[in-house]
Amino acid sequence: MQAEKISRDNIRTFVMKFYAKIIKDETVGPFFIAKLGDDMQSERWQTHLEIIVGFWISLVFGNPKYRGRLFLPHTKLGQLKRETFEQWLKLFGETLDEAYIPEVSKIFKERAELIASNFMRNLGITL
Ligand code: HEM
Repeated sequence: MQAEKISRDNIRTFVMKFYAKIIKDETVGPFFIAKLGDDMQSERWQTHLEIIVGFWISLVFGNPKYRGRLFLPHTKLGQLKRETFEQWLKLFGETLDEAYIPEVSKIFKERAELIASNFMRNLGITL
């Protein structure tokens, strides 16, 4: 069922589903596996997932739960390409559409697209 309202609980569920897809994906998965391993139950993954849940909660509710450095880790992942970001966004969008009604899904998508295009610009990825 698609949620009509954003809650901390449904953000958590959404994030877990998104990364379960990410880890299996041929294009994006290897970057995560290289950094965090292939077991989502591991401590390293659980730490990452908690950070990501906090990140989205902060963005959507505007509270200061996320205090990380967003861009820096992405400079240390090897060769990220436009295709890598496009695939990340595709999986993100698909998972959102399963989780939320379109009006809500759009809020997350717009944020993610903006951040992804900033990342690409900062990483020097051009068309
Ligand atoms: C090409 C697409 C992407 C890949 C392969 C990727 C991969 C990763 C990896 C492997 C980490 C863990 C780094 C570490 O623990 O050292 C990470 C952290 C993170 N990513 Fe991404 N990412 C991508 C795009 C994005 C986008 C578009 C967003 C936001 C909309 C995002 C948000 C984050 C956040 C919030 C963290 C946690 C940073 C921290 O430790 O504070 N990522 N990413």
